[in-house]
Amino acid sequence: MNRIVSTRGIALLTSVQLLLFSCSRPAEEPNHKSGLITENAMVVSARGEASRIGVEILKKGGNAFDAMMATEMALAVTFPFAGNLGGGGFAVYRMADGEIGSLDYREKAPMAASRDMYLDENGEVIPGLSTQGALASGVPGTIAGIFTAQAKFGKLSPAEILQPVIDLARNGFVVSQQQESRLRGILEVVREVNGEDTFYGKERSAGDTIKNLALAQTLERIAQNGRDEFYKGETAKILVDHLQSLGGIITLEDLESYQAVWREPVVFDYKELRIISMAPPSSGGITIGQILKMVEPFDLKKMGHNSSEYIQVLTEAMRRAYADRNFYLGDPDFVAIPVPELLDDEYLKSRMENYDPNLATKSEDLAEGKVQFAESMETTHYSIMDAEGNALAVTTTLNGAYGSKVYLDELGFFMNNEMDDFSSKAGVPNMFGLIGADANSIAPGKRMLSSMTPTLVERDGELWMILGTPGGSTIITAVAQTILNAYEFDMTMQEAVEAPRFHHQWLPDQILFEEKSLDSSVYRSLSSKNYRIHEGRTPIIGSVDAIMRLPDGKLEGGADPRRENEAAGY
Ligand code: GLY
Repeated sequence: MNRIVSTRGIALLTSVQLLLFSCSRPAEEPNHKSGLITENAMVVSARGEASRIGVEILKKGGNAFDAMMATEMALAVTFPFAGNLGGGGFAVYRMADGEIGSLDYREKAPMAASRDMYLDENGEVIPGLSTQGALASGVPGTIAGIFTAQAKFGKLSPAEILQPVIDLARNGFVVSQQQESRLRGILEVVREVNGEDTFYGKERSAGDTIKNLALAQTLERIAQNGRDEFYKGETAKILVDHLQSLGGIITLEDLESYQAVWREPVVFDYKELRIISMAPPSSGGITIGQILKMVEPFDLKKMGHNSSEYIQVLTEAMRRAYADRNFYLGDPDFVAIPVPELLDDEYLKSRMENYDPNLATKSEDLAEGKVQFAESMETTHYSIMDAEGNALAVTTTLNGAYGSKVYLDELGFFMNNEMDDFSSKAGVPNMFGLIGADANSIAPGKRMLSSMTPTLVERDGELWMILGTPGGSTIITAVAQTILNAYEFDMTMQEAVEAPRFHHQWLPDQILFEEKSLDSSVYRSLSSKNYRIHEGRTPIIGSVDAIMRLPDGKLEGGADPRRENEAAGY
């Protein structure tokens, strides 16, 4: 274990500082750090260009769903790490009149996929097959998602929305410091998978401008021909030919039959809050619901933010919720999921009955997984609030960083490695250390279980917060803590996003802390109760992009400084 005790680090908020927090809506007040404040509308995303293009569309008269199309595609241009055409995602919305809903545009297993496709003749998982190369990809859902949402609720034409994105791809974006190191990190593997001359096989330094002309052309065809360009047109043919030449199994029929699906969101109350989040095939809504309902009876405010007591009770709720997640959840079109039972108050109360404030509960049976977290910060989230009051939380992903590393040079984008989110074999951890069961086994046309948790929060019947984050299995716990930070500890949106986070996912049986975020007395207290503590697995837990509506109707952005997130608005 690589333990570092320090009181410094990312915006560490101590309990002493928290005593200064006195009222529930502190933005713009002295002693509080506030994010961007705007009067009308806001977009918060992983890249400034994407947030600003979303806002440009809102100013042109578009609404949140028009801005979604623009922001998502601008992320595909400027943030190829996770922004995508070759991946999928989920969107949760709340219209100004209170109507809620959600859209599932998660990838699907190709029809030629099979339960044991990643196992060798001895039934062992073949390392890397579900994470790298053409066999790792599910059928992409992103273009279907943004077109389905925009066609139902948007106001502008796709061609008008996509024009600034096409211009951005053509004129280029400037490589940031973080991008330089990420691109360097994948250089060799991208060359290995795609050949020496591939577009992202060139060395890039911070300050360089990347002009992606192939992607500009792909987007131009999509702007002209609509979603069918991606699923039936020239783009579809190039995509299938390319993947098949690399041993992939996605066919034109897989693409033609892909549909995004409207789903009922998961809705539950936490004290006076009403939380609206994503239903399966995302585990996000149910798992965050279980965690928050299990801690609801405890006086968290009295315990103090990130006190030993607070960390302990939240950890025990996380442990129990992830155990259920891994066993019960999968694609609802393939497996029966007992959603009401999993969120039942009495059931959740009974789950915490063996909680012992003096001793860690033990995660059962399985040995700790061998976890490789070098790529854990994939995925990207953006939050949108338009001037009409429509709210949209969207999380989208390629799964690992730059997905399967298969780059379509003719089309200008990376393909996902989402097949790794299936359980390749019961009991064997995936790249996030998550142990799967039968409910999430591979089947043709099935969607793989996700942890993405795009979430909306109502307070007193009004929209209060829009939030979500990347972070694989840590997404759910990062979102839960951000809500608790704002509600229980009266933080501003920016403070709630910045506060240090921790994570437990049942297996491996350990609490993960962000580096330099754990006070030594808290460490001693948790260790004395047999908690296993790890601070070295990943440098950060999530990278939250959030918006809070303040009592005066203004909006406060929470753009996570752990990455290069940015809020824009007017
Ligand atoms: N690919 C990460 C997730 O969907 O949870």
